Amino acid sequence: MHTVTVAGASGKTGRHVVEQAAERGWEVRRAGRRDTGGPGRWVPLDWDDPTSWAPAFAGSDAAYVLIPFNHPGAAEATPAVLKAAGAAGVGRIVLLSSWDAAHAADDDPLRVAERALLDQHVHAAVLRPTWFMDNFTHGSFAAMTAEGELRLPCGDGRIPLVDTRDIAAVGVACLAPDGPTGLLPITGPAAVDHHEVAAALAAAAGRAIRYTSVEPEEFIALLEARGFSRAYGQFLADALGEVATGRLVVPVERTVDEVLGRAPHSITEFAAHYSALLRS
Ligand SMILES: NC(=O)c1ccc[n+]([C@@H]2O[C@H](COP(=O)([O-])OP(=O)(O)OC[C@H]3O[C@@H](n4cnc5c(N)ncnc54)[C@H](OP(=O)(O)O)[C@@H]3O)[C@@H](O)[C@H]2O)c1
Repeated sequence: MHTVTVAGASGKTGRHVVEQAAERGWEVRRAGRRDTGGPGRWVPLDWDDPTSWAPAFAGSDAAYVLIPFNHPGAAEATPAVLKAAGAAGVGRIVLLSSWDAAHAADDDPLRVAERALLDQHVHAAVLRPTWFMDNFTHGSFAAMTAEGELRLPCGDGRIPLVDTRDIAAVGVACLAPDGPTGLLPITGPAAVDHHEVAAALAAAAGRAIRYTSVEPEEFIALLEARGFSRAYGQFLADALGEVATGRLVVPVERTVDEVLGRAPHSITEFAAHYSALLRS
């Protein structure tokens, strides 16, 4: 049976990869630092523990690997994790990178990790998604959604936000025997501004949720008050600032349509899917 190891199995993309891989009838190994449940069986995998790397991948035909974000040293260790997966006999590896990698310097950890995979003698796919819709339900901005006000330093900037179910579906297509390989930029179906995001979330939640553009410093302080590091807040503020000023324009990509034969989910469809969560 086709066997896949899914790193970050408890995270935003990994949980969908696990579900969709199991739906295909594959044997799934959920890899992470703890067993959070789900289809298949859990295998220990910790970026901080090199002895866990090879056993997490041994016996799998394919693997989904992400870079644990905002975890000290994780990006730098990822090339070695990818090499351990290849050395353990995994013949097909899908790396979750980021749209940012397309414009990053050669020594950026994302680019280094991508090269570490592409240089291996394995079938390799690199997913380069833009910002996730799920940041508003399961990620860094979920608390703002719950409080009814998205306070972001993004002006009227537009981003073709993507639903992680679509990223996972492309990833699972790449994990399949004979699946696509190479660099795969992934976006949603249309560039939306945060007024549209707030309106879609509000309609699904059945309560008021509005967007207010704020100065970067206020945004960073808000994130710090919620327990995120200042460096993480600064990273997000810089990235959103690029969008706000129009210096960064992310084009709508057709990868989801081409790989899956259907359009990616819109922000309205995304919000409707999570209406129970948004109403709770
Ligand atoms: N959010 C966005 O808008 C966006 C956009 C483009 C790209 N990305 C990229 O997406 C990636 C994150 O993916 P995601 O959102 O699916 O994950 P996530 O929701 O951030 O969850 C992180 C996952 O990694 C695991 N993890 C964390 N530290 C670990 C460690 N030291 N060793 C092993 N596993 C560890 C966690 O599992 P346990 O804690 O259970 O071990 C969890 O399953 C990042 O590389 C980010 O750059 C994000």
